[in-house]
Amino acid sequence: MLTAKAQEYKPLSNAKEDLDGEEEPQPHLRKPLNRQLTVAHIIFFVFSFITAFITGVLFTIYISNATTTHSYESGTPENISIAPHLPLRQIAGEFTYQSPFSKEPPLEGNVSEPTWDTLIPNGLGYFIPSTADTSRSKSSSVVIPSAFHQLHCLYLLRRAYYTTTPELQRFDFGRNRSVHVAHCFDYLAQAITCSADSTLEPAVDKEHGFLGGGFARRCWDFEYLKSVVESRRAFNASGFLAWGAGTEGKVELG
Ligand SMILES: *[C@@H]1O[C@H](CO)[C@@H](O)[C@H](O)[C@H]1NC(C)=O
Ligand SMILES: *[C@@H]1O[C@H](CO)[C@@H](O)[C@H](O)[C@H]1NC(C)=O
Ligand SMILES: *[C@@H]1O[C@H](CO)[C@@H](O)[C@H](O)[C@H]1NC(C)=O
Ligand SMILES: *[C@@H]1O[C@H](CO)[C@@H](O)[C@H](O)[C@H]1NC(C)=O
Repeated sequence: MLTAKAQEYKPLSNAKEDLDGEEEPQPHLRKPLNRQLTVAHIIFFVFSFITAFITGVLFTIYISNATTTHSYESGTPENISIAPHLPLRQIAGEFTYQSPFSKEPPLEGNVSEPTWDTLIPNGLGYFIPSTADTSRSKSSSVVIPSAFHQLHCLYLLRRAYYTTTPELQRFDFGRNRSVHVAHCFDYLAQAITCSADSTLEPAVDKEHGFLGGGFARRCWDFEYLKSVVESRRAFNASGFLAWGAGTEGKVELG
C-alpha cells in the first residue's frame, strides 16, 4: 500500500518541477510555440496530478475497506492500550490423536457431555475481576477469558454441525442459531489469527497421519486459568449447557 501510494504521488513532484520551470524558463522553452506547449504541459501535469491523487485516495479507501475485517491495531502492547489478560505460565503439552473429544455429540440438544464439560469451569468462565485485572481496560463487573469464549463457540459449532433438528435447543443458549453460528465462525477465525500459534509442526504425512501430534509443544497453563476463574465465578452454571444458569442456559449478565 505504501509503495502504491508513493507511485501515485509521483506526479506531484513532476508538476511542481514544471511550474518552477515556468517561472524561470529553460532556454529551449523560450519560443512562443514552446510557451504554448509549456502551458499545455502544466495543464496536462495538473490534470495528471489530480487524477493520480483521486486514484490514490480511492485506492487507499479500497485497500483499507478490504483489510478492515480481521485486522488489528498496529503497534506494540507497550504503546497501545490493550485489554488486560491473566498471566499464565508456559507448560509443555502434547496433542493426542483420536481423543474422546472427537466423539459425535448426542442427538438430543439437552444432554450433557461430561468429556467436553471438563473443559469449562463452573460459571462458564465468567468471573468478577479485581481492580488489578481491569485497571487498563473498560470497566466491566463481569469478564471472561477469551479461551472460554472460544471453547463455547467451538462447542456450539460442533453441536450445530451434528444436530438434525432445526428448532432451538439447549446448546443454543436461547440465541438465534444462525446468527450465533455465524458469529462463532468469525470469532474463532479472528482468535486463531490473533493468537498465531507459531509452533512448527513436522510435515509428516502418513496414512491416517495426524499432523500436529507426537511431540511436545509450548502451551499455557489452562488448568490453572480454569481454577482461578472458577473460584471467582460470577454465577453457578455447570457444563457447556449451563445447567443452573436460568432457562435454556441463558446467562443474564448485569
Ligand atoms: C507504537 O510503536 C510502534 C513502534 O515503535 C510505532 O510504529 C507505532 O506507530 C506506535 N503506535 C502508536 C499508536 O503510537
Ligand atoms: C431433554 O428433553 C426431553 C424432551 O423435551 C426430556 O424428555 C428430557 O428429560 C430432557 N433431558 C434432560 C437431561 O433434561
Ligand atoms: C434468526 O436470524 C436470521 C438472520 O437474521 C433470521 O432470518 C431468522 O428469522 C432468525 N430466526 C429466528 C427464529 O428468530
Ligand atoms: C453457587 O452455589 C453454591 C451452592 O448452592 C453457593 O454456596 C454459592 O454461593 C453459589 N455461587 C454463586 C457465585 O452464585
